[in-house]
Amino acid sequence: MLINGRQEKQILAKAREDRWAIGAFNAFDLNSLEAILTAAEELGVPALVQTWDFYNPDSERNSFTEAGARIFEKQIILRAKESPVPVILHLDHTPSYAGCVRGIRAGWNSVMIDASAKSLEENIALSAKVVEAAHACDVLVEGEIGHVAGYSGLDTIYTGVDEAVSYVKGSGVDLCAVSVGTVHGFYATEPKLNYERIAELREAIDIPLVMHGGSGLSEEQFRKSIENGIVKINFATYVQIAGGKAIVEAVQGKERPMFNTVVKAGQDAAKDFIKMHMQIFGTQPVKL
Ligand code: 13P
Repeated sequence: MLINGRQEKQILAKAREDRWAIGAFNAFDLNSLEAILTAAEELGVPALVQTWDFYNPDSERNSFTEAGARIFEKQIILRAKESPVPVILHLDHTPSYAGCVRGIRAGWNSVMIDASAKSLEENIALSAKVVEAAHACDVLVEGEIGHVAGYSGLDTIYTGVDEAVSYVKGSGVDLCAVSVGTVHGFYATEPKLNYERIAELREAIDIPLVMHGGSGLSEEQFRKSIENGIVKINFATYVQIAGGKAIVEAVQGKERPMFNTVVKAGQDAAKDFIKMHMQIFGTQPVKL
């Protein structure tokens, strides 16, 4: 069942209150979409599917033609509506107002405006503009304050409590991504998570906190982050690795590897890996 922004808010509020988290997994094609949704369906818990702004011709992640993007968008919506579990469709890291509006038009429940590399004032102004449009359409907005690095090896700059309070108050966002020691993609050195900062941010801000760069963290690191206040965990790279490794195994020693069998092996492994993480995050069914 494809839910609306108000219902997404209900799920996130419940998670925040009961201290569990929802994993936000990235779909880039029908196989990854299926892996995420079947994982949630087998556990009977809400699913959070993230996509990028696949209409953006400037995005380095863009692998679609405009027609391809339109078809994929419709396939996602149809599949989400057919699901027996609540499905949140979320637009991940979008740097522009236009990109967020495209997500709203497509029927996504929430969009992320990522202006975290800008000054606090510019970040607030752009996020507030997206919030005004999104809230008129019952769509939630995630913003980011403090920048989660996009590659390994950067010194972590933790989100400051005062800047986060100003950002949330000034922008009116519904979810707040914070920098607490993770990076996107692979780690060159051991991540140093600042649990104390997570707890301080939870105390100071009364909306759900989001952690990006979930790949590569240990079970204990996830549990402590959630205990201290993280509610949404973005998780992408290692799901791709889990599926990719299974594909490598499935072709090994085979003279005639079958396309359908190989792809299915990757999808199943990705699904199992996602399920395992949904369980680590303690994701619960929510009555809407
Ligand atoms: P990872 O690829 O490091 O799991 O990060 C995903 C993410 O944060 C997407 O927004």
